[in-house]
Amino acid sequence: MDVKYIKNGKLNSKEILEVFKSVGWNKEEDNIIEAFKNSYYITAYVNDKLVGFSRAISDNHYYTGVYDVIVMPEYQKNGIGKNMMNIILDEFKGTYFFLTYTEGKREFYEKCGFKDNDNSMWIPR
Ligand SMILES: CC(C)(COP(=O)(O)OP(=O)(O)OC[C@H]1O[C@@H](n2cnc3c(N)ncnc32)[C@H](O)[C@@H]1OP(=O)(O)O)[C@@H](O)C(=O)NCCC(=O)NCCS
Repeated sequence: MDVKYIKNGKLNSKEILEVFKSVGWNKEEDNIIEAFKNSYYITAYVNDKLVGFSRAISDNHYYTGVYDVIVMPEYQKNGIGKNMMNIILDEFKGTYFFLTYTEGKREFYEKCGFKDNDNSMWIPR
């Protein structure tokens, strides 16, 4: 599959929301576009169609958080998720990477190099 990966490219809110919807996640248009703009993000295209994305927030020196790693169901298991993650890992290499994962996704992140960390906490909103 010929996949094009773009860093911090042009954002089309309708396309972004469609990708979220394809995996059952609903986001508010204004908030999610602002969130992307405040992040470093990768978008993945097949034949000019947005099929996935991933975003990260980093201080560029110590810590990087990874969020919203999504590939449309019909494009999954083609290495797109891992490729997007590798671009982020390379961009911010040398920092600690953190994320939270949804049920059933632990193995995917393990394959991207993540390990369990018993010492992390969060405040859910
Ligand atoms: C998780 C997700 C991004 C993975 O994307 P993907 O493009 O299908 O993943 P890849 O094809 O790059 O997979 C990389 C490796 O992880 C494995 N993998 C992918 N999804 C997996 C899963 N759910 N369970 C176990 N292994 C998985 C692949 O088999 C592959 O293994 P390999 O390197 O040994 O061949 C995708 O399933 C998705 O968008 N899910 C819905 C949204 C979501 O829950 N995102 C994560 C939020 S925490």
